[in-house]
Amino acid sequence: MEAAVALTGDARGRAASQPGDGGEKTPPERKVYMDYNATTPLEPEVIQVVTEAMREAWGNPSSPYPAGKKAKDIIDTARDNLAKMIGGKPQDIIFTSGGTESNNLVIHSVVRHFQHTRSAEGDGAVPHLVTCTVEHDSIRLPLEHLANEQVAAVTFVPVSKVSGQVEVEDILAAVRPATCLVTVMLANNETGVIMPIAEISQRIKALNRKRAASGLPVILVHTDAAQALGKRRVDVEALGVDFLTIVGHKFYGPRIGALYVRGLGELTPLYPMLFGGGQERNFRPGTENTPMIAGLGKAAELVTKNWEAYEAHMRDVRDYLEERLLAEFDKQRIHLNSRFPGTERLPNTCNFSIRGPQLQGRVLLAQCRTLLASVGAACHSDQVDRPSPVLLSCGIPFDVARNALRLSVGRSTTRAEVDLVVQDLKQAVARLEGPPGARGASS
Ligand SMILES: Cc1ncc(COP(=O)(O)O)c(C=O)c1O
Repeated sequence: MEAAVALTGDARGRAASQPGDGGEKTPPERKVYMDYNATTPLEPEVIQVVTEAMREAWGNPSSPYPAGKKAKDIIDTARDNLAKMIGGKPQDIIFTSGGTESNNLVIHSVVRHFQHTRSAEGDGAVPHLVTCTVEHDSIRLPLEHLANEQVAAVTFVPVSKVSGQVEVEDILAAVRPATCLVTVMLANNETGVIMPIAEISQRIKALNRKRAASGLPVILVHTDAAQALGKRRVDVEALGVDFLTIVGHKFYGPRIGALYVRGLGELTPLYPMLFGGGQERNFRPGTENTPMIAGLGKAAELVTKNWEAYEAHMRDVRDYLEERLLAEFDKQRIHLNSRFPGTERLPNTCNFSIRGPQLQGRVLLAQCRTLLASVGAACHSDQVDRPSPVLLSCGIPFDVARNALRLSVGRSTTRAEVDLVVQDLKQAVARLEGPPGARGASS
């Protein structure tokens, strides 16, 4: 298979392999990284353009002489590449430090815009924002903060326990006269569930036409596409969104990001969070990080060129992983937490639990000698023993959610690595449960 051959011939994803110390008799234990939703390694081509830019494009992009011009050209090319990746216009992209900043920028901007436009009308209303219960913390926490400060009202719409998705009708039902933003992620980082963003945008657009006649504020639609980019086609026209968050380190790019804003500053207002030297047309000032922007552009170019091959390869390996899990463990013991009948999901994500009183996700992972994965969002890795609120929101029972592991495969993960991981899990379970008679003794 072309994709597999092209994608597996290097050391990516095996960066965690332990080097031998030279004198040991037994080979070092092989590590297999399956946490690509947490972060991805840089593609070699990305490292190359980052390095070149560091060496050769160090000029200030705002300087009028050749060194500055060279840096500016690199930034323009990267912007073009990002725009192509999402089917948007280059002038609608601004560079940010990452997903957290892009998400915060959208939220704070719509609140500022509401305050500017509505306070002139003196109706005293606070802006209202709608989101769902499984968003990343970089959406949830700024919204909770604004609500706690009574600067905004927020509705967290529960996701369906049947589909794992937020239902379009539930989003619409949450809308109020003062609603100015709907923000729903494109793909969930823990389950991989794809949210119905195109349908939400369409319905909100139709509603906006009616609201305009009554003098109500326009509702803008934002999607956080951090997890979807590089794993499936993402197109801002098909999605119909006003804002879209881009995160480089989820698609083999550097740890910066960008924000797409439809008709930036003309159709869609954007209020900066920072004030400074005028870069990014004042929407996000600060001297541009040319090398990282160059790398982000290269990573985007690779996605545009290869996303179908990436998707097919990841789906093949992930489906094989699920098949092997069901074959190697008693089917009754495996619960595939991210499979909701009829719901689309990311091609690389497998969230599952092995039932058993001793098999809490963290405990099991700690027993694994090969597998490197997580129990949920990487940023919650310090929260011991609490099952993922995302899984609980999706209707996964407490005892099952407590045992959950999130495995996410990447461009270079192989079926042979899946075999190693499944054996590793079997051995870890056997060590935790002891001989058959001991099973369940410590519950
Ligand atoms: C869905 C989603 N949104 C936003 C982010 C935030 O990205 P960053 O931590 O790079 O700012 C992440 C990263 O884990 C994510 O998974």
